[in-house]
Amino acid sequence: MSEKLWDGRFTEGTDALVERFTASIDVDRRLHEWDIEGSIAHARMLAETGVITAEEAETLARGLKEVRREIAAGEFVYDDSLEDIHMHVESRLFEIVGKVAQKLHTGRSRNDQVALDIRMYLRAEIRGLLQAVVRLRKALVALAEAHIGAVLPGYTHLQRAQPVLLSHHLMAYYEMFTRDGERLRDALGRIDAMPLGAAALAGTTYPIDRDSTARQLGFSRITENSMDTVADRDFAIEFAAAASICMMHFSRLSEELILWSSAEFGFVEIADAFTTGSSIMPQKKNPDVCELVRGKTGRVYGDLMALLTLMKSLPMAYNRDMQEDKEPLFDAVDTLKMTLEVYTRMLPNITFKTDVMAAATTTGYLDATDMADYLATRGVPFREAHHVVGKAVGFALARGRELHELTLAELKQFSDHIEEDIFSFLSVPQMVDRRRSAGGTATANVRAAIQKAREVLEASFPAEKGGGD
Ligand code: ARG
Repeated sequence: MSEKLWDGRFTEGTDALVERFTASIDVDRRLHEWDIEGSIAHARMLAETGVITAEEAETLARGLKEVRREIAAGEFVYDDSLEDIHMHVESRLFEIVGKVAQKLHTGRSRNDQVALDIRMYLRAEIRGLLQAVVRLRKALVALAEAHIGAVLPGYTHLQRAQPVLLSHHLMAYYEMFTRDGERLRDALGRIDAMPLGAAALAGTTYPIDRDSTARQLGFSRITENSMDTVADRDFAIEFAAAASICMMHFSRLSEELILWSSAEFGFVEIADAFTTGSSIMPQKKNPDVCELVRGKTGRVYGDLMALLTLMKSLPMAYNRDMQEDKEPLFDAVDTLKMTLEVYTRMLPNITFKTDVMAAATTTGYLDATDMADYLATRGVPFREAHHVVGKAVGFALARGRELHELTLAELKQFSDHIEEDIFSFLSVPQMVDRRRSAGGTATANVRAAIQKAREVLEASFPAEKGGGD
């Protein structure tokens, strides 16, 4: 049995299995950087307020930096009996600087310490994710710009509905990922509150200066209530929810790319570097990246559910249950980060078979709505026009032809209002470009949307000001 930092009241050592069971070091060692930075700031604040001397604070800071160096160099020795990263850092500090190390924990508890570490970790990760989201959005806009003019069927119920621009379809995803970035930024705003000083749950008797710690660590404010500070993880749940929504969007895009790369659609070909083959069927080229993103979406949802379930019903304030928050949180961060990276790289490596897409817009009666519109603009009430065109569709269907393949005489059976100009009216480019309502698929609109996106992206600096690490 090793000596514990908390074992004053204990007469027996911890059971070896319990030691293994309660240890979180394998997971929370990832927080070391933030743990040490937080401790240095805490020590300096203690000196500023006269709780320890300036010399002691500098000794602690020097020792902590040495611990940081050892961890970075891979020299640091981890040991389950020291439970978590906080204990590891502190006991190594003791070995390096001696007894003064025991002053570091003045006015602090692991409960507020871990809350700080997670917030600092998540703050740094979200800043990186925000930049990754911007890169993804740029890749989408570049694709939209490169394919302006290409058309494909727009679908509802996965049935061909109306022709749309491929760029419009891609810009729909741009909008989704833009909101995902906004959600992450919102989460960042609520993470930006410094928890240290809440101590175990009730605050501390020392004359600490929490604002100073906050300033040193680049937080714009401190948390308000000491119990809430150590008891809640809503900021982590909020992040996981934002990550889940972003993954949901990726999953939908993936599903479309999987469908589109099937022989049945044949709309896209994903480059070899982003697909894999089959060990038995030599002809295969599978969209595995897309499939894995779809699969990993479930994983991130699982992380969100794990966090929500973990926190459900916990009485105030800190409970050890909360130690279980890190695995799902880290997993959600890692999965989202990797997905953003792999997608940003894959997007320019997708070939859109615009001829196949265009051909698909000419069959399946994608012009039926426009034919009704044609009649409506010539005075036929829309409901009646809808019915008339329905009859024409039935007529064409029975003959295995499309509306635009019927002769003028055949079309005239359904309405006297139909004239020769119906054929150009039903051409795909005209159908697309007539949809000029704000947000519609007309080429002019989509060009404007791309231009606007370009401007927004150029002006976009995802790093929050006032919150340097
Ligand atoms: N390893 C703990 C966690 O992650 C740190 C806080 C422990 N506090 C305590 N009183 N046991 O939650």
